[in-house]
Amino acid sequence: MNPVKVGICGLGTVGGGTFNVLKRNAEEIARRAGRGIEVAQIAARRPNPKCETGSTPITADIFDVANNPEIDVVIELIGGYTLAHELVLKAIENGKHVVTANKALIAVHGNEIFAKAREKGVIVAFEAAVAGGIPVIKAIREGLAANRINWLAGIINGTGNFILTEMREKGRAFADVLKEAQALGYAEADPTFDVEGIDAAHKLTILASIAFGIPLQFDKAYTEGITQLTTADVNYAEALGYRIKHLGVARRTDKGIELRVHPTLIPADRLIANVNGVMNAVMVNGDAAGSTLFYGAGAGMEPTASSVVADLVDVVRATTADPENRVPHLAFQPDSLSDHPILPIDACESAYYLRIQAKDHPGVLAQVATILSERGINIESIMQMEVEEHDGLVPMILVTHRVLESRIIEAIAALEALDDVVGNVVRIRVEQLN
Ligand code: HSE
Repeated sequence: MNPVKVGICGLGTVGGGTFNVLKRNAEEIARRAGRGIEVAQIAARRPNPKCETGSTPITADIFDVANNPEIDVVIELIGGYTLAHELVLKAIENGKHVVTANKALIAVHGNEIFAKAREKGVIVAFEAAVAGGIPVIKAIREGLAANRINWLAGIINGTGNFILTEMREKGRAFADVLKEAQALGYAEADPTFDVEGIDAAHKLTILASIAFGIPLQFDKAYTEGITQLTTADVNYAEALGYRIKHLGVARRTDKGIELRVHPTLIPADRLIANVNGVMNAVMVNGDAAGSTLFYGAGAGMEPTASSVVADLVDVVRATTADPENRVPHLAFQPDSLSDHPILPIDACESAYYLRIQAKDHPGVLAQVATILSERGINIESIMQMEVEEHDGLVPMILVTHRVLESRIIEAIAALEALDDVVGNVVRIRVEQLN
């Protein structure tokens, strides 16, 4: 049988890795796919020194690949929302299957892209869009297909995890670690996407859709970054037996779906709390399988290429199946997607870590306890530190039981209004993940 012809658009880190893996493992991949896979064209503005492309035709124009009648599958690895969006729609219009690693594109334009792909009977595969080399899309979409998924929680941004790990282990400053992550090639072109949680929210949006069978709704994801975290909070969390991680959480409740990315305290003895550096991990809790944990490299040249090529193998195998009988893009049949709403953040429920800077007066603790108890907020633990020499204030650290976000917001406003409380109360969500 003739080989399947693919065109790679973008020869950066992931594009170069994809070319190299396809070349190195060509024989093994063909044995799996049932046909050879040939890179028939590459679109790149500049060569990649880590990638020996030999006689493969190269064009500077990505649309040459989308319009090339020889090409069966377009691999979109240019990133971003605009050109990539046009490229993918053009490839679909021309009847080509698409493999992409572009989380922003799928999270924001995925509903439109999948509708067009269904019209044309082509596949759009996106395993590499979430958590790099971890095959978590396939695990949720196919491996856990028997389950009603209750919740999932993931460390899905390597740059953010690297920063938090270095801050905790070496006491390094935020900006310094970010610079190193950029130099290592992990950070997004705009690193605010990493540290403000936007990149994680793109990935969480995709995971929530395939876990719960809902349309992609990136605009409803709540996002809070890690830029405001201090070493003091990292250390207090540690003293209480927790680690701070930048977590994406999606949870199904009767009222709707929680979809939120924010710094989170996790008990230090959970496996996921020990996922360090640029590594990613996703925990998925289903009613039949219980909790499962998927761990691995969330970014990088060959880990991400591993997912791109796995998608390619799936596409090659699926081309022999009737389009109606393929695995649906969002795991559930398109006419069976649910309209269970995404909850606004103040309707979400969590436990909270609070740090209050108080004057060293008798009765302050009693006032704090009264404010919380009046709002039905149950305290799990409390720790009062020694007076800080530099400002004469006493840090009070509290961990609450689970409560509605709107209640904690109200309590924080009341705490900040106390004469004996100075400055803003620091609040970080806490998840037990059990
Ligand atoms: N900037 C992303 C990260 C790359 O740090 O995880 C992989 O999506």
